[in-house]
Amino acid sequence: MFSFFRNKKQVADTAQQNIIQDYRDVTPVAEFFKNETGVTFDKQVSILQNKVTTFCKHREIDSFTELLKKMEHERELKQELIDYLTTNETFFYREFKQIEELVKLVKDADREVAVLCAPSATGEEPYGITIALLEAGVAPNKFHITGIDINLDATSRAKKALYRERNVRNLSEGVIERYFTKSDLLYALRESVKSQVTFRVINLFDPSFKNIGKFDFIFSRNMLIYFDKETKLRAKEILESIRKNPNQEIFFGHADLF
Ligand SMILES: C[S@@+](CC[C@H](N)C(=O)[O-])C[C@H]1O[C@@H](n2cnc3c(N)ncnc32)[C@H](O)[C@@H]1O
Repeated sequence: MFSFFRNKKQVADTAQQNIIQDYRDVTPVAEFFKNETGVTFDKQVSILQNKVTTFCKHREIDSFTELLKKMEHERELKQELIDYLTTNETFFYREFKQIEELVKLVKDADREVAVLCAPSATGEEPYGITIALLEAGVAPNKFHITGIDINLDATSRAKKALYRERNVRNLSEGVIERYFTKSDLLYALRESVKSQVTFRVINLFDPSFKNIGKFDFIFSRNMLIYFDKETKLRAKEILESIRKNPNQEIFFGHADLF
């Protein structure tokens, strides 16, 4: 009896040893990720290697080759990797001068305007624009904002619109009182702001992106910083193609230099 169990244990141990884990060359994953999303890790190869190794180990995926193979038919796994590797750092009223500029343009417009935030991450930018417009006395029926992002998890959080102190740090107490309900450590955005924004999970480089419609004003801030020069230009061209007015400049972030 005892030797039967011991033999079984030996077989299991041997099987365990036979699994060859290979997390050495992350280049194929870096290339895959850049082709899919535009995001490059050219200057952060060892960070990428550590991150993807952790990602694989948590899912009992034994090599980067296996990961790439699995993602060919497992869309959820691909989305998980995208969510894991994209950086969603954002906050309300970031680079506020541009928001003020937009407020003036919307006030001057003589009809309803459509604004795009690409990318919208966890929602602070499109919601911040909404708050600034409402604060300036713009009627809710004069504008609508669409937020898009490739990150599914960030977009789900944007729809929930529950924020922490650090996200609202640039907002005055008055603004917080008017547009949020505070409970414990969370700031819950009011429906009057949430209802002005529609969110979608979409990749800017997906061919279907161009069917998203045309926009009067486009914000694309702090996404191009993750792209190389050629990809930045490709992104710019795509965004320019969905402007209603070809003379209207796109609002890029100050760090998104070409
Ligand atoms: C740092 S956030 C910027 C958020 C906000 N615009 C701001 O400036 O605070 C960058 C976002 O770009 C998104 N992103 C990266 N590549 C993308 C792509 N190809 N299509 C759509 N979104 C993408 C990421 O998921 C991330 O949420």
